[in-house]
Formats: sequence, C-alpha cells, structure tokens
Amino acid sequence: MTAFFKLHSGLDREGPGHPDEIAWAVEQVGASGAARMLDAGSGPGGDVPALRTAMPGATILAVDSHAPFIDDLNARFADDPQVTGQAADIMTAQGPFDFIWCAGAIYFVGVTEALSGWRAALAPGGAIAFSQACLFRPDPPAAVDTLFEGYPVTDEAGIKAQVAAAGYDLLATRPVSDAAWEAYFQPMETRIAALRPDADPALNAVLDDAETELATWRAHRRDFGYLLCVVRPA
Ligand SMILES: C[S@@+](CC[C@H](N)C(=O)[O-])C[C@H]1O[C@@H](n2cnc3c(N)ncnc32)[C@H](O)[C@@H]1O
Repeated sequence: MTAFFKLHSGLDREGPGHPDEIAWAVEQVGASGAARMLDAGSGPGGDVPALRTAMPGATILAVDSHAPFIDDLNARFADDPQVTGQAADIMTAQGPFDFIWCAGAIYFVGVTEALSGWRAALAPGGAIAFSQACLFRPDPPAAVDTLFEGYPVTDEAGIKAQVAAAGYDLLATRPVSDAAWEAYFQPMETRIAALRPDADPALNAVLDDAETELATWRAHRRDFGYLLCVVRPA
C-alpha cells in the first residue's frame, strides 16, 4: 500500500461533507422519491447515508476509480439493495440519473468538462450538485496559493462562468460549512497521530502534507473552501 493510502484507507469519508448540505441540495431540485442517483467520486461512501435519508426511495450508484474505496463501500452497504458501488471513472457511469452528487471530485475532471460530459447521462429534468474549491476573497494568502500548487482555483464568479460554459443554469450555491470540513479533518487528525510514531520517511511526508492542508484551511477558512453548487441543463 502506498503511503498516501496508508493515511487514506479506512476513513469514513475522503472530503468535507455534512448531511444538512445534502438535504439542502436535494431540496433545491425537488428530486422525486424514486430517483436514480449517481454519487460520483464517492470515496468509501461517506455521503451515502445522508443521500439515502434525503431521498429514501432512490437507488444510488456510487462510483470511484479507487477500487479499495468501492470494496469498503460495498461491504458497508451490503445489506442495502438500493446502493451499488462500482470501481470506474466518474465520466463513464451509465445513466439515466435524476440526480448526480459529486462532492470534492469534480476538480479532477474540471467543472465545464464534467457537466458537459454528464449531460447525456442526465434524465430529463435531472440536476447535478457538486462541491468545488473556491476563493471566497480576492488575493488569498500565500499559504493558500501554495496549497493549490498551480491548480486554477477560482472564485464564485469563475465557477458560475464554468457552469454557464457547459450550458447549465446555476440554481443555488452555498459554502461548505465548517462542520463539514471538521467531519473530514478530525478523524484524519486522529489517524495522523496514530500513524506518526512508526512512520517511515515516505509516510511522514504524506502526514506532513495532510497536516499542512488542515492547518491552512483552519487558518484561512474565510479566504477559501468549497462552494456547493446545484445546477441543471439550461
Ligand atoms: C476528495 S475525495 C471525495 C470522496 C467523497 N466524495 C467524500 O466526500 O468523502 C475525491 C474522490 O474522487 C475519486 N476520483 C477522482 N477522480 C476520479 C475519476 N476520474 N473517476 C472516479 N473517481 C475519481 C478519488 O478516488 C476520491 O475517492
């Protein structure tokens, strides 16, 4: 197992998320109880329980390219016939879907590229909710620039332009909450503390990076974070 996955295995979630935000996103689209849902870039399925609660009648296809996350997810929801995990690329998931949920994964593909690619997989009237890294203030501190290492992170206006470029309407936005970030970072801190004493140099480097990420977010969380966006084809 690589050092990265020594840190990132066995955690309940792999990015920020909170049930209130999933409930909010579902409310924005008024999704029906019998919806077909895609959790794109699901990781180990941290959002699946809240998605099930928000849309109890829905079936969920959870897709992630990292097969061990999907193995964990399938074990976790083995008793739930409405949840299926699939190790695959998020852009190859076969629809139609009434609702695509994509938390912390769209940046791997690009907002415009992902929304354009998912258009054919959306059922008529279908909608997408995604979270994406966002600058909340202009001229972020150097630590934030360093964290993104050249990734073209933009502000809300920039994300709106990326949504429009894909031919979608932006229905609603809200910043991902501090509670959602802490739901990701606090278990990770516990894991870092447990792994540190026996870590080799490669693992120490991964643990250092994770500590930098969480310290940067805690110090500058009013400057940057994730923006949760709900969109629908125009
Ligand atoms: C930051 S994690 C978020 C995981 C989960 N949504 C959560 O909030 O806990 C991003 C996930 O996207 C997955 N991923 C990235 N690019 C992908 C792709 N092209 N196809 C499928 N999964 C991808 C990664 O393996 C990772 O599990």
